[in-house]
Amino acid sequence: MLEVNKAAAIKFGIDTHRIEEKTDTQRSIEILGDDLTFISVREFQRTKHVHRLHPYLGKFIPQLVEVFLRRYFERGDTILDPFSGSGTALIEANVLGMNSVGIELSPFNVLIQEVKAKGYNIPEVEKEIKDALKRLKGFSHRLQIKGRGQTLFDDKVERFETDSEYLKEWFSDRALQEILFYRSIIKDYKNQDILMIILSRSARSARLIPHYDLARPKKPVRETYWCIKHKRYCTPIDEALKFINRYSYDTIKRLKEFDRIRTDASIKIIPVRRQKN
Ligand SMILES: C[S@@+](CC[C@H](N)C(=O)[O-])C[C@H]1O[C@@H](n2cnc3c(N)ncnc32)[C@H](O)[C@@H]1O
Repeated sequence: MLEVNKAAAIKFGIDTHRIEEKTDTQRSIEILGDDLTFISVREFQRTKHVHRLHPYLGKFIPQLVEVFLRRYFERGDTILDPFSGSGTALIEANVLGMNSVGIELSPFNVLIQEVKAKGYNIPEVEKEIKDALKRLKGFSHRLQIKGRGQTLFDDKVERFETDSEYLKEWFSDRALQEILFYRSIIKDYKNQDILMIILSRSARSARLIPHYDLARPKKPVRETYWCIKHKRYCTPIDEALKFINRYSYDTIKRLKEFDRIRTDASIKIIPVRRQKN
């Protein structure tokens, strides 16, 4: 392992002997001219610009893709990723001036890729995201009557219904109302795909889950619980608004960052349609 990576790994309590036993890093370096463990690449670098428009568990580290693209391809070449997932290879290829084609089976992953890859009218997108957020804030405000440290619901406000048992089980009443309201207004905008991604990312964070178990929660938490991440008692998540607010601004920032470095190279995404038997 490179010394810099080893130092970072030890800092995080990682058993570097086991890594060194299992990987022939020297051989990788000889072939590729780099250390492919990427342990010293920090989280914010692995999720730079559009690579974190939405979490995606099986994502390539973009720096890994970059090593291979730089080594085997040139500006103007076309690369194919037949299982393109959240589109990491397509975005990295574009930054290096390489055309790309991605093939993907999952409709949701296709949506993530398209939002990352599309060249948007940024001022228009920003205006729409902020407008949708303002309307949600108005709805959320009307929904609640604050009193004596309690949040109650105002019965006069239109309430949204859903047949989904999953939504009813995994969200607090307030969070669910905010999610359903936001979903209902997406149709009013041109850039619906971006708003869908903001909503999906926010809904993921607003579930009734403990802070330490975002990826695979087993059952909803409705009571105060001991949080092993924060080492204190935490209360269950009660709202979606704060996440939609946070991710609205984060999305605008990330789209702008990629817009500054993107090239004219093309990105073509081919959704695979499942055959009906
Ligand atoms: C591990 S992910 C790829 C992740 C990607 N490298 C990234 O950085 O986001 C593999 C992807 O292959 C897709 N997939 C699986 N079978 C497929 C098929 N037959 N055709 C197209 N895509 C497929 C899955 O839906 C999944 O998104």
